[in-house]
Amino acid sequence: LHISAEPEKAKAISKLLTGIFFEDINYAADGGLYGELIQNRDFEYQPSDKENHDTKWNSNHSWTFKGKEGDFAIRTEQPLHPNNPHYAALNLTVDGSSLSNAGYDGIAIKKGENYLFSSFVRVAEGKKSFEVRLVSEKYGLLSKGLISCSSKFWKEIKITLKSSASASDVSLQLWPLQKGRIDLDMISLFPQNTFKNRRNGLRADLADTIAAIKPRFVRFPGGCVAHGDGIHNIYRWKNTIGALQARVPDRNLWGYHQSMGLGYFEYLQFCEDIGATPVPVIAAGVPCQNSGANGGGQQGGIPMADMPAYIQDIIDLVEYCNGAANTKWGKQRAAAGHPKPFNLKYIGIGNEDQITDVFRERFAMIYKALKKAHPEITIIGTSGPFFEGTDYEEGWALANEMKVDMIDEHYYRPPGWFINNQDFYDKYDRSKSKVYLGEYAASLPGGNRTNLETALAEALYLTSLERNGDVVSMASYAPLLAKEKHTQWNPDLIYFNNTEVKPTIGYYVQQLYGQNVGDEFIPARVDFSVKREDVIKRVAHSITRDQKSGKLFIKIVNMLPVAVKTSIDLSKLSSVSKQVIKKELSGLPGDYKIQPIITAMDFSNLKSFELKPYSFTVFEL
Ligand code: AHR
Repeated sequence: LHISAEPEKAKAISKLLTGIFFEDINYAADGGLYGELIQNRDFEYQPSDKENHDTKWNSNHSWTFKGKEGDFAIRTEQPLHPNNPHYAALNLTVDGSSLSNAGYDGIAIKKGENYLFSSFVRVAEGKKSFEVRLVSEKYGLLSKGLISCSSKFWKEIKITLKSSASASDVSLQLWPLQKGRIDLDMISLFPQNTFKNRRNGLRADLADTIAAIKPRFVRFPGGCVAHGDGIHNIYRWKNTIGALQARVPDRNLWGYHQSMGLGYFEYLQFCEDIGATPVPVIAAGVPCQNSGANGGGQQGGIPMADMPAYIQDIIDLVEYCNGAANTKWGKQRAAAGHPKPFNLKYIGIGNEDQITDVFRERFAMIYKALKKAHPEITIIGTSGPFFEGTDYEEGWALANEMKVDMIDEHYYRPPGWFINNQDFYDKYDRSKSKVYLGEYAASLPGGNRTNLETALAEALYLTSLERNGDVVSMASYAPLLAKEKHTQWNPDLIYFNNTEVKPTIGYYVQQLYGQNVGDEFIPARVDFSVKREDVIKRVAHSITRDQKSGKLFIKIVNMLPVAVKTSIDLSKLSSVSKQVIKKELSGLPGDYKIQPIITAMDFSNLKSFELKPYSFTVFEL
């Protein structure tokens, strides 16, 4: 294989090509990235959180009361907030009762670290105290603190607990020290050490792993979660901001409960913290496939009479993100601790929807109103999945008709599809909408674990996205996160449990792209001594250059079972750094535990080297 760079043919490509898709699926948010360690802290779980109305999903879920029957109840009179109507009422008639919560599969605690306990408390009379304990099944008491309250009105009480040992089987226990009535709500425990030490923050190890991809953008909150499975389940950003007790929790259509503790403010803050552009996706006034089967029984979309208010919500989102701190919604952002704007530039409208008349009508209303109010915002429409029986063509027809700025395409296909369709975007009409490849993954039959083969197929395909970076503006693998034992969708990019983060090889492909990318694509002449089409398409490359730093990134994927003798000719490129860093992923196609190996290489070696069998190699110059 001989590759000769032709810089005279260079073209500018998107600066946002690789990013991430974050959806609260597989317990990605609550019990995952969101740092809260208490499950059902607000006592708002409901049977309707589950598809078949499982009665175990109620206000008691995850809570255990040890004591006399009748001493513990869930009550609703004079709640902390109308959006958070349930709370725990302890009315103890004997000593030695306790209320405990074991989080999501047990709480994982680290030795010597601080944990921030907080709760809203109210007492009927006098002063009441209780002990807050962190107790490991295996190691016993790890920490305790004392809380007192004499307020007849809801009052937030906070203490810090330091753990004397590490354990993953911990529960939080509350031990009242007197008889009598105590009401409790929003019982919360956070590690002090969250990502960037934000309050109400994110689990640090997971957030660090995501940040290491260097994503240029973050799409949120879905996926299907964005449009829900009924009009009452449509994700409403206004329900997810402000004081935690004022947020409106909701059923997650993947079969669990969304606390909304990780809401729009936290998403936007995370984007800023990792230097990524926020890409919120909002329902186009219709739920999943225009139906309301599970979500309140209403078919179709939001009633026309309610559409103006719905559209205003979307326009208000722009003010929340970008408005001055003295505007109505900018003020709310400032009150949350961010007076400066978040610099929102993109909004997605719709997600994989069926392109029915109900959809068309609502999409057009939103598109026109948002464009009029905010022409500076790039709007992303939806074509949805690319395969037979979907509305891909209809989505594109609508985008063409309305001249939509960008369109969100999705495809989950076997590795062979990615190998055989590297020319997918070569033929796209550059005068039409730009593309956001919002969801893709090379997947194996039966949702089997991904491996080097799937990762290499993605790496191979990504070379074609760089080559087409003038029409493909963004691309994100989906889904991003999956909690072990709580996974509704496979494959995913990063698996995790309460103590470990387990990136897949596909993760390292995303990382290699995120960390090694330019904003200019440099075509090359390729001479391959082998002429067989089936062989040629298993080897792909791309060269990009960062115009600011002058750094050059050469990526080559070899999906052949044999090494390939290769030479790269950069003689037409002026001022190329002679320092080469080589980053290489290689192994057997079925391997699933491989990380890139990084070495320094002599520049002269680019003239003749071997690409390993089944490998992805990046040269950074
Ligand atoms: O990524 C998982 C799901 O796949 C998304 O929620 C949906 O958009 C798609 O069908």
